[in-house]
Amino acid sequence: MYSKLLNAGACLLPLLACTVDAATFKLPINTNATAIRKISLDAAKVAPVRVGTAVYFQTNPLGKPNEIVAAKINGDGSISSHKRHLTGGKGGAAPVAKEDDDGKIARLQLASTNDALFSQHSVITSGNLLFTVNAGSNDITMFTIDPKDPLQLNKVGKSITSHGDLPVSLAYSPKLKTLCVANSGKRDGVACYDVDPEKGLSCTDKEPLERKIGTVKDGPRGTVSDIFFSDDQKFLVVITKGDNVKNEPSIVDIYRTYPDKKRKVCYEVVRSKITEAPLLFGAVQVSPTKIYATDGSFGLTKLTIDPKTLKVTLQKDADKEVIDFQSATGWIAKHQKHNTVYVTDGKMNRVVEFDASNGERSQEKPFLSGQPGNLDVAIGGDFLYTLSPSNSALGTNVSMVQVMHITGKGTFQDVGAYIFDEKDDIPAGAHGMAMSCKTRVARLGRRAAPLNYFF
Ligand SMILES: *[C@@H]1O[C@H](CO)[C@@H](O)[C@H](O)[C@H]1NC(C)=O
Ligand SMILES: *[C@@H]1O[C@H](CO)[C@@H](O)[C@H](O)[C@H]1NC(C)=O
Repeated sequence: MYSKLLNAGACLLPLLACTVDAATFKLPINTNATAIRKISLDAAKVAPVRVGTAVYFQTNPLGKPNEIVAAKINGDGSISSHKRHLTGGKGGAAPVAKEDDDGKIARLQLASTNDALFSQHSVITSGNLLFTVNAGSNDITMFTIDPKDPLQLNKVGKSITSHGDLPVSLAYSPKLKTLCVANSGKRDGVACYDVDPEKGLSCTDKEPLERKIGTVKDGPRGTVSDIFFSDDQKFLVVITKGDNVKNEPSIVDIYRTYPDKKRKVCYEVVRSKITEAPLLFGAVQVSPTKIYATDGSFGLTKLTIDPKTLKVTLQKDADKEVIDFQSATGWIAKHQKHNTVYVTDGKMNRVVEFDASNGERSQEKPFLSGQPGNLDVAIGGDFLYTLSPSNSALGTNVSMVQVMHITGKGTFQDVGAYIFDEKDDIPAGAHGMAMSCKTRVARLGRRAAPLNYFF
């Protein structure tokens, strides 16, 4: 009843009733809390450990009101509470081919995995701004994050149309004050918006979706995976999966940006086809000429970008990194200080680290919870947060945010998970993971070891 009231947006006692405390932070059973704490404390002796203030994801319930969950990060990196905020839009899912009882193909939500949108960055933050897609109502919502309380979000303006079908991924450029959205459905393509912290979003394109994708979509194949601005914000990158069955290449589309023009992102595309990687997924830029992108069919690719032509290539075999036993490598995040990247797998509860200076695989760690996999991943200070929603097809009915402490280059450890209970009602379609932009020095010494274990 409590959470039903919250779902309806009825906050009767503003300070108390809106904070849900049903979920708890726990360590997996058989974990030695004393030993984990010692590793964290030892890391703090070498250099100050930093920690974020909040993480955000969307509940994305199919066809129902979408919400952002804002979860509070404690001084020791654990999570203590969360708050929900209605976006005004609806949750959605990418259609996949599924046979009904008569053997006819029905288009339905994917049941065997819980990545409802086949994408990274469906929720993003920048400074005190937060943006989310509403995949079921084809629109985007903008919030500001209260600088004093990162759990407090204020909606700015009304949700605005994404101009296409199934918006799945967002990119924001602070320099250009521009947001772009990738639509992955039937009417696909990229629309861009001016961002005003007071008035909200306004579309700058005369012909939204002029930036077309134009692929045949078949389940995850052919759908948009990710969109992001380059570090210098001189171009926008859009990544689209190919087809590993029909041997079709993935597509990397690049659009130049123009800070002085009204429309900041041009329409002309530089398109590259990556034959060697048919299921390109999430990506991060690691140097002016290198993009690391995961591939759902084998692991990681180290793509090279020519700064003059903006053509992207996978130059040699060694730039393909096969991750053993991988099942659906998808999401990726970078640790600035250590110059490392971390990737997760939608069907395997494991994080793999790569050294971004030489591209070598430097470490891997499973979570000890028995969850089926991880989706989007975000790093705040020295802690990594990843969403692991429930998945009835793979035998789990709980959703959680799992946490690793990155104690150094090549060393990180599972420090527990924030586990939602039944009343929290975090559906299997939950998606995205974004970090508050503030960090602070962690207070590990004061931590009382978590008393709770799960399973
Ligand atoms: C837990 O770790 C501590 C510190 O490393 C150690 O002294 C203790 O014996 C461990 N306990 C168990 C049950 O393994
Ligand atoms: C999961 O299933 C167990 C056993 O049936 C039940 O006790 C628990 O409340 C369920 N949790 C959620 C989040 O639905």
